[in-house]
Amino acid sequence: MLVLGIESSCDETGVALYDTERGLLGHAVHTQVAMHEEYGGVVPELASRDHIRRLVPLLRGVLAQAGVEKTAIDAIAYTAGPGLAGALLVGASFAAALAKALGVPALPVHHLEGHLLSPLLSRAAPVFPFVALLVSGGHTQLMCVAAVGAYELLGESLDDAAGEAFDKTAKLLGLGYPGGPALAALAARGGTGGFRLPRPMLNSGDFAFSFSGLKTAVLTAVRERTLTEIEKAALAWEFQEAVTDVLAAKSFAALTYCGLKQLVVAGGVGANRRLRERLDQLAAGKGLRVFYPELELCTDNGAMIAFCGAQRLLAGAHAVGSGAFAIRPRWPLHELSGA
Ligand code: KG4
Ligand code: ZN
Repeated sequence: MLVLGIESSCDETGVALYDTERGLLGHAVHTQVAMHEEYGGVVPELASRDHIRRLVPLLRGVLAQAGVEKTAIDAIAYTAGPGLAGALLVGASFAAALAKALGVPALPVHHLEGHLLSPLLSRAAPVFPFVALLVSGGHTQLMCVAAVGAYELLGESLDDAAGEAFDKTAKLLGLGYPGGPALAALAARGGTGGFRLPRPMLNSGDFAFSFSGLKTAVLTAVRERTLTEIEKAALAWEFQEAVTDVLAAKSFAALTYCGLKQLVVAGGVGANRRLRERLDQLAAGKGLRVFYPELELCTDNGAMIAFCGAQRLLAGAHAVGSGAFAIRPRWPLHELSGA
């Protein structure tokens, strides 16, 4: 079964072809980072318009990459939510129209489920059940994953998501958008010394997170006096350490709580090298393993949507075939039912 995946929930247009027998045949992402940069964040209307411009050329490119005709597509999976309404509508209507023209079903996919299952696309993939740490721009969640569609939420952020905290802190330090990679790059030039930030909710005894206080602590440090570049790097390092400490400690506590040995990390913040280093260090020698998506599949992409759609269809999910489509800009993952 050949599944076309369409992702357009925020500022990346992603298109991919996943074959249930042969694996990922092609994928392409266009990022709008350069376009939104001058505004310091995503401008929803610009995002929607750009998705419209990109989808057809991206699809042509991916078909050529895979060496298949569009008539070979058996089903189309598209991100139906959560995300920006206008941006989601572009992908959803494109998927529905193409599905109707080709006479194939269209399947709405939950963006976070796409992230969650994306490590299964790696060569070294985990097997069910596992604990998943989902760390993106909008979500920080720990989940116990028993199978496709069987997700038990253990805890989540009470305020800012980890990625959001990275982005906001980066802004405070005068870095550009998107802040996560920029802050990580600055932190790499930092190192210990000078600053000590809190580890919010480290000992709360549950799987909840809170990152907004950390951002405020950085703001206080920045306001106190003008920081040198070296001090800014040290502050970025300490911020990254604080976030990483909390994410790592709670992820391993979740493994113990669930009696599992595999941790899966997904979402944009999963690209953070320091986080990966810490998790791998903690897992070493304890019979525990940490799995990540390929680096290029950490941030938004069509491959995870195609793959997720394929898994859902294999599990017997019903797809919409009439040209109808629906989006759900707000859609908590735990409301997602099994296939
Ligand atoms: O999963 P994603 O691409 O989009 C959402 O679904 O939100 O995640 C984007 C988030 C942004 O907040 C971005 O700053 C963060 O992931 N991010 C990083 C890194 N790369 C991306 N955060 C920390 N370190 C990174 N290397
Ligand atoms: Zn995402």
